[in-house]
Amino acid sequence: MSLPHQPVHQPQLKARTPVQKCISSDCGAEFGLRDQIYVCRNCGGPLEIDCGLETLKDTKSLVARWESRASSREERDRSGVWRYREILPFDDAAPVVTLFEGNTPLYDAPKCAKYSGLASLTLKHQGCSPTGSFKDTGMTAAVTQGAILGARALVCASTGNTAASLAAYAARANLRCVVLLPEGQVSAAKLAQSMDYGASILEVAGNFDDCMRLTQELDDVSWIYIANSINPFRIEGQKTVAYELMMQRDWQVPDHVVVPGGNMGNSSALGKGFEEMRRMGLIARVPKLSIIQADGAAPLAQLFSKMGKTPAETSLMQLEIENVSRPRTLASAIRIGAPVSWKKALRAVVQSGGSIISVSEAELADAKAMIGLEGIGCEPASAATVAGIKKLVANGTFARNDSVVAILTGHVLKDTDYVSRYHRGGLTLDSGTGHAAEKSEPIVGTFRNEPIRVAATKDAIVKILQRN
Ligand code: F0G
Repeated sequence: MSLPHQPVHQPQLKARTPVQKCISSDCGAEFGLRDQIYVCRNCGGPLEIDCGLETLKDTKSLVARWESRASSREERDRSGVWRYREILPFDDAAPVVTLFEGNTPLYDAPKCAKYSGLASLTLKHQGCSPTGSFKDTGMTAAVTQGAILGARALVCASTGNTAASLAAYAARANLRCVVLLPEGQVSAAKLAQSMDYGASILEVAGNFDDCMRLTQELDDVSWIYIANSINPFRIEGQKTVAYELMMQRDWQVPDHVVVPGGNMGNSSALGKGFEEMRRMGLIARVPKLSIIQADGAAPLAQLFSKMGKTPAETSLMQLEIENVSRPRTLASAIRIGAPVSWKKALRAVVQSGGSIISVSEAELADAKAMIGLEGIGCEPASAATVAGIKKLVANGTFARNDSVVAILTGHVLKDTDYVSRYHRGGLTLDSGTGHAAEKSEPIVGTFRNEPIRVAATKDAIVKILQRN
């Protein structure tokens, strides 16, 4: 006996076909996913991927599916990026290149909260990832796309972390990796990673911005695939951090999310993730997104401070940024004077009602030590967040009881030279910036913790401990 036909409830969990799209509202040109482009072919504007997520109907089922994948053993489910594959521009057969990125912890940071004048503060540590920085969530997507396109070499310009991450993922995919690094300006740990993962390392006689310009000039070589954040597929991977954060917070939207800013890919990606979730109805509002730069490398903070009242989105695209020709900061990861993704980042900040400010070297260094005192630690660039939050509380932009999440972007072991100099009292802006001629006052760390030399006797040790 045959059963009467029963309609099976099939929740619509797949969006319409994604496209690459120019972000300029005057242009809005669309391109296919297989077009190997990094800027709009029509107007030269930045590209992003429109995943058509508004066509996803049953978002509740989608969230349940993501939750259940956290306990699955399937390779893609274990990745904190591919777990969210319904919102990524890849089909189910994509040859995913993963190192099980994502799944990064949220930490309560009471000492940093007190230090910044907040009742509480949460840190999301993207440095707890396969290569020790937030780049991995983007690289898994960019390298997968490179493999799909049949690239023979993957290339990036980098202050060190992008290179280390690309080198690792390219090695997993058996693809050649070439990294352009500013000579003498990359931390030893980051450089060592790129060497170990087998990348061809080109040390360029110039700064990061020179490396970035050269990389962009390679965009017409068809067998080379560029993995910097001008690559919209990389941003797709990085946007999943916003989804993961919201799942970890049981979909409670924080008042503020704060990130350090360099080339501006991270802020662009987080902004895109939150805005998508709002459009899909997963969250009712987006958190205010704020970006913190270092004083000596702060072109976007300078533009933001001159903008005055919030301009309309169309006029945002007409703004011009004044690049910093000789960016200076000890936070080498964000020593960038000409950020390529600034338009997307600015749009995300303005749309969300956030801020863009900069902090001094001393503010950044002390904030970094405070994050260390939590037992968490991070690389210098990441600490711009806590330094910036302290400033934003002091000037009344953030209220004491606001809920704030700071994104830490790199692991403390990425730059141990900086840590050691801070605690031993040898941190000056000329150390390692490549501008030895521009000497500046030493930074006197408030939280210095220098090793103590002691004789090899019990007495000597007890005496010292009693004194301290
Ligand atoms: N924090 C760390 C640790 C970084 O490595 C970077 C960027 C940033 C913050 C800034 O992020 O560029 O998305 O605004 N590092 C790049 C690199 C430039 O080459 O590793 P962004």
